Amino acid sequence: MIHLDNLTKQYDLPSGKAGAILAADRLTLEVPDGEIFGLVGPNGAGKTTTLKMICGLHAPTAGRVTVNGIDVQREPEEAQRHIGYLADFFSLYDDLKVWEYLDYFAHAYKMDEGTIPGRVDEVIRLMNLESKRDELISGLSRGMKQRLGIGRAIIHDPPLLVLDEPAAGLDPKARVELKALLKELHGRGKTIFITSHILADLEEICTSIAIMEKGRLLRMGKLDDVMREGKSVRRFRIRLAAAGFALAEWLAARSGVSEAVAEATGVHFAFAGDDLVLAALLREIVHAGAPVCSFEEMTETLERLYSRVSSGEVM
Ligand SMILES: Nc1ncnc2c1ncn2[C@@H]1O[C@H](COP(=O)(O)OP(=O)(O)OP(=O)(O)O)[C@@H](O)[C@H]1O
Ligand SMILES: [Mg+2]
Repeated sequence: MIHLDNLTKQYDLPSGKAGAILAADRLTLEVPDGEIFGLVGPNGAGKTTTLKMICGLHAPTAGRVTVNGIDVQREPEEAQRHIGYLADFFSLYDDLKVWEYLDYFAHAYKMDEGTIPGRVDEVIRLMNLESKRDELISGLSRGMKQRLGIGRAIIHDPPLLVLDEPAAGLDPKARVELKALLKELHGRGKTIFITSHILADLEEICTSIAIMEKGRLLRMGKLDDVMREGKSVRRFRIRLAAAGFALAEWLAARSGVSEAVAEATGVHFAFAGDDLVLAALLREIVHAGAPVCSFEEMTETLERLYSRVSSGEVM
């Protein structure tokens, strides 16, 4: 669905200063149909720049983007028929009613006149905005506005949705609703390309991710593969029923154990070794008199993966 080939964007520094900012540095990436693809990275990584090039809103300095086989730079209008784009900061027309707003964009996309009223109502239903259909946009909550923005992006029924930080500024309930909506759209066959630095949000819905920093892609692939990659060391957490046993110090002296960190009610540590060695270690801990009341492997979160990757630990 999306193909980036050595996509590069260089911004000149403000006049008078020498040098340039390499916001996207030879990005090569393939997003197959039917993926929910998450682009993760800190502020300034180049996510928005990349999205804008995918949507034909920024011209690349070098390289190429195709969407659904269409060269975005050569045929931007044709490509945009296949793309629904929601910008990170988008404005809605406060003095329009919800249905009028969608109707306006349906016309802007030059949709077939006869199909517009039906499509507007379908999108309103899909976005769960039926009760607000005839209300002014100014009276919508932030989460509703976000859904309306997504509704606008899909009004022309594009196969690809490109969403820049759609979860930003939403409360937990609106986030859950957003995730449900994206899953629903995915279920209806849409390919979704989404950015966020709220990694937990991507983790739940994305099929694949790429990690971006300083204009470069550090890692990409199926979510599970990226999470597993470079992970020969596992982390475990032990909780103790009572204080008084200096388990962190005790562990620090064992082979295979690294980074033993004391916590209020126990310890967590990194461990390199197979399950049999691990079982032996646990037996030893108990024999040594530590009042173990729980022992668990800590699952890797995207948060931790991200910090491992960007610190170069798994490069
Ligand atoms: N129009 C522009 N002119 C000059 N430099 C720009 C422009 N747009 C972005 N940049 C620079 O390019 C780099 C990447 O910015 P970009 O907005 O793509 O990052 P981002 O990953 O979307 O960040 P955020 O998480 O803050 O949205 C930054 O250093 C930024 O200052
Ligand atoms: Mg951005």
